[in-house]
Parts: sequence; structure tokens; C-alpha cells
Amino acid sequence: MPEQPERSGTMLPPGCLAGQVAVITGGASGIGFGIAREVAQLGAHVVLAGRHPEKLEAAREALKPTGVDVLTVPTDVRQPDQVEALFRSVSDHFGRVDMLVNAAAGNFIVDSEKLSVNGWNAVVGSVLHGTFYCTRAAGLQMIASGRGGRILSIVASYAWTGGPKTVHSVAAKAGVVALTRTLAVEWAHYGIRVNALCPGPTDTEGARPLWEDPETRQRVLRRIPVGRFGTVTEVAQAASYLLSPYADFINGEVLVIDGGEWLGKGLTS
Ligand code: HXC
Repeated sequence: MPEQPERSGTMLPPGCLAGQVAVITGGASGIGFGIAREVAQLGAHVVLAGRHPEKLEAAREALKPTGVDVLTVPTDVRQPDQVEALFRSVSDHFGRVDMLVNAAAGNFIVDSEKLSVNGWNAVVGSVLHGTFYCTRAAGLQMIASGRGGRILSIVASYAWTGGPKTVHSVAAKAGVVALTRTLAVEWAHYGIRVNALCPGPTDTEGARPLWEDPETRQRVLRRIPVGRFGTVTEVAQAASYLLSPYADFINGEVLVIDGGEWLGKGLTS
């Protein structure tokens, strides 16, 4: 099956997020940047948080044509004081936060018996602890504003299937799914919707090296029923739908966008 070309443009009415503010962790690259670009095209101002100032700056440049206000804040989401500082900057600059996207993550393949405590902490710290720190800080501002908001976290289907050699990420993503479902109920009366998006293998610059080797690439492709990788734009469009008013009755959901990959686990080689 041919690769899906990257489509540009938005799926939703331009302007449907106008004047709103979206904080996107891991927003300088990959899926996080794709979501930033998509919500900016829909009119939202964007706050990009990530560890590397030079990547943040390049992302800000790339978003210039959208015309929205882009704030970059170097942040390691594993550090609660840095997360507090991030949301203070958002409040000082914009005076509001309407959307949080938890896209910051890190991962590596390792035999579990060889995984060090530091390695575990590095991944669980960014994926699970970072998601909680950011969600808590954003949630407090959304509650105080009386306007509510939307929170979206990026997860992976191995959160429920298991995933050999990625026990740190599996455990952390499972925690994020549980956090999503819990807060969806707990914070609904504040007008805050909390959902997760679960991409399958997606053609990002971070993930591409994982299937650089042609044999690995074919093995991964064979597991995906539609026969191709997902694109960043497809994932970003699904994210922007969940963040938009068109999804106002969707709460506590984990939307899988993986070409049917996880349903076939165990059925194919
Ligand atoms: C083994 C590793 C390791 C690796 C880090 N560690 N990377 N062990 N293999 N590749 C261990 C270190 O040895 C150290 O433990 C501990 O983790 C902390 O590592 P540091 O490098 O000091 O920390 P830090 O820079 O914060 O590392 C963050 C990280 C790292 C997440 C652990 O791997 C990283 O920065 N990754 C970014 C790139 C990335 O995650 N790409 C994947 C994105 S795409 P010791 O005990 O030695 O001190 C993706 C999609 C997957 O995830 C899709 C699958 C289908």
C-alpha cells in the first residue's frame, strides 16, 4: 500500500480555536509540534514547552506564518519547579490557558532486567510524573478561571496490551490512561474535558530511526492492517478535533489512531 502523503490544511473550520491558548509539552518536534501547528492554524495561541531552547526557537520560527502568538518556555517536565514556572509564564503572558497537550515523552528499548533505576525514573518521570505536574498546574488555572478547559495526553496501546522491552514507558502510559479517566470524571463539573490520543507507529523524526533498517520497517508495516505508517498531520487533526468544541461531549476517551495495529497484536507475526 502506498505511503500516505502529508496533507496540509485543517479539518475543522479555521478560527474555531481563535483567541484561545494551548500549552503543548514536547511541542518543539514530532507529534507535539504537529499538534501545535494544527491548533495554530485554527487560531489558537501556542505555548511550546520542551527541554531544548534551540529546538523551541526553530519551532517558533516555523509557526510564524500562522500569525498567532507563540511563546516558548524551556522546561523539563520532570522538574515540578520548572512546570510551576512554565504556567506562571503562561499566566503572565496570556492570562489564560484553555488547552493542555501532554506530548513530552522519552523512551528506549531495553531488557527489563537491565533497566537501571535512573533509566526507569527518566521515562516514568517525563511521561507519568510530568503529565501529572502539568495537568495539575493547568487544571488549577482552568478551575480558577471558571472557563474550564481541555486536557489531552498522548499515550500508546502498549498501556493495555503490554510491550516487552519498554516496561518503563508501558507502566507510565498505563498510568496516564488511568489519570485521564479519573480526572475526566472528577473535573467534568469544572468544565474541563480530559482525553487521551493513542497514535500507532507514526512517521516522526524521533521514531523513524527505530525502523530505519529495511527488515525492521517491513516487520512493523506487516503489523499495521492498513499497511502504512500514520502521518503527523493525521494525528494532529485527531488531536485538534478532541480539543475543539465539536468534541464537547467526548470526555475520558482514549482515541486510537493506528490503522488497526493494536487489534491485530498477536494475530500476525
Ligand atoms: C539504555 C538508556 C538509554 C538507552 C537513557 N538511558 N537512554 N539506557 N538505552 N537508549 C538510561 C541512562 O543510561 C541513564 O541511566 C538514564 O536512562 C537516564 O539517562 P540520561 O541520558 O541521563 O537522561 P535523559 O537525557 O533525561 O534521557 C531521557 C531518555 C532518553 C528518555 C531516557 O532516552 C532520551 O532523551 N530520549 C529522547 C529520544 C526519544 O525518547 N526518542 C523516542 C521518541 S519516539 P544510568 O543508570 O546509566 O544513569 C517514540 C515513539 C516510540 O518514543 C514508538 C514505538 C512504536
